[in-house]
Amino acid sequence: AESRPDPDLLLAWYDRHRRRLPWRAEAGVAADPYRVWLSEIMLQQTTVKAAGPYFLRFLQRFPDVCALAAAPLEEALKLWAGLGYYSRARNLHACAIKVVEKHGELFPDTEDELLKLPGIGAYTAAAIAAIAFGRKATVVDGNVERVVSRLFAVTEPMPAAKPLIKRLAASLSPSGRWGDFAQAMMDLGATICTPRRPACALCPWSEPCVARAQGDQETYPRKAPK
Ligand code: ADE
Repeated sequence: AESRPDPDLLLAWYDRHRRRLPWRAEAGVAADPYRVWLSEIMLQQTTVKAAGPYFLRFLQRFPDVCALAAAPLEEALKLWAGLGYYSRARNLHACAIKVVEKHGELFPDTEDELLKLPGIGAYTAAAIAAIAFGRKATVVDGNVERVVSRLFAVTEPMPAAKPLIKRLAASLSPSGRWGDFAQAMMDLGATICTPRRPACALCPWSEPCVARAQGDQETYPRKAPK
């Protein structure tokens, strides 16, 4: 295990094994920023499986950011019922209004501008910039933390290791396709590099993975002793 992980190998894996998720555009089709934003907000505290039906109902009732901004908050809250964390739904509505009123109905296309919108933090800004606009951005969620901590055998415990993991993640840069790369990292963590019994035999990065070479994959990401 001595070579560096090749981003193109992960992209080739993604082209074959990407999950078909309701908010994902077909391969080669530009993603709709509104759908990317809505899905990323829902996925912050909800699993991919649970979020699917909510996402579709939401999209049916509010097909675009104008429809959501024009609706009463109560209606958005009603469709959110069951997802929990209602401040997310309040911020969602406030964000839709701001995009319509201050940005001419278009989501801004840089992380800095996205960060100024209600409910959009570092993770969401990076995800939207990469997935909706193809911008270079390092998108790190729990799945990505696991993938990166294993690839490089990061022994520093969480959450202290977060800045190091972010730097290591940023060192893996594809020559383009930033949105696909971000989603490939998340899919790899969700389907191959799982918390228990990772399917290393199917992983495009098994060869450069330091944890795999050591045989201690499941010990990452490390936790501080209680
Ligand atoms: N989790 C959060 N956002 C995701 C995405 N775009 N693809 C896969 N998993 C995700």
